[in-house]
Amino acid sequence: MPLIRPRRNRKNATVRALLQEIRLHQDDFVYPLFVVEGEGGREPLAHLPDIYRHTIHSLLLEIEECLALGLKSFALFPIIASSEKGPRGSRALDSQGVLLRAIRAIKAAFPETCLITDVALDPYTDHGHDGLVDSAGQVLNDETVEVLIQMALLHAEAGIDMVAPSDMMDGRIGAIRTALESQGFIHTNIVSYAAKYASCFYGPFREALSSQLAFGDKRSYQLNPANIREALLEAALDEREGADILLIKPALPYLDVIAQVRSESALPIAAYQVSGEYAMLFAAEKNGFLNADAALYETLLCIKRAGADLIFTYGAKRMARKLAQNAL
Ligand code: PBG
Repeated sequence: MPLIRPRRNRKNATVRALLQEIRLHQDDFVYPLFVVEGEGGREPLAHLPDIYRHTIHSLLLEIEECLALGLKSFALFPIIASSEKGPRGSRALDSQGVLLRAIRAIKAAFPETCLITDVALDPYTDHGHDGLVDSAGQVLNDETVEVLIQMALLHAEAGIDMVAPSDMMDGRIGAIRTALESQGFIHTNIVSYAAKYASCFYGPFREALSSQLAFGDKRSYQLNPANIREALLEAALDEREGADILLIKPALPYLDVIAQVRSESALPIAAYQVSGEYAMLFAAEKNGFLNADAALYETLLCIKRAGADLIFTYGAKRMARKLAQNAL
């Protein structure tokens, strides 16, 4: 028997390209963007390298630049001043709030975009939890779902393409789907954060939103990092309740979850490479330990290989630029 030589299939760049199993493309990415009340320009975020907090004005310029790079899908997050936050997060239902005005402005200028909004109360609550809390500090499920329904309807009315409930309350996908259908929003997709883990990798995001927890943690609603069957159950429930896309978050430490949800559902799978996953690559680069863009490319490739059809990543614009230049 002659020596078996798998290296033949890796012998030069052309053969390697011919045999490459998956590729990253601008269409794979969703770019998270932060918007804040006010005039003027963008401001850098201290804990998220190369990411900015935008006014509606600078947000429109940013989206124009992204579209020129072939990047068309965006996840929008509002940054709310602490003076506007409260225990019930009531500003979430203000139709003149910065997020809703941003959605209308983007859709008027760039109707070809796909806009996705988080449905959760944490940007608006002074205690930093995703829902309403009782006097003992417990996050209330059914009462929170009622508010999330109103939030999703407001976003849909403003012209959002997809709502993404990220709160992990029970039954919210079914409740939001029913409300959207009954109000005639039959084209609004639901991206369900089906498996959102109680992760330490959300730090830079919470810093960007000034959303520090006043008490407790999110472990009574977000998933235990030690569990995968729990994620499969949540994914199956969200699918049954009417989700269009299932999202897993964070991404890189949870590739097994992505792969398994992929094999158990026919729905498209999204993965969210979260703020901490992104920021640590740049922190390592700053120390001279690795090249952040190379690490970004490799991690995104691996997330896609594990089974993600679309990836939320703060690296979307950097990668789109490199892909447009054929520089990867
Ligand atoms: C809020 C929400 C969080 C993120 C997205 N939506 C934070 C949290 O649950 O505490 C994190 C995103 C990131 O870290 O990039 N529901």
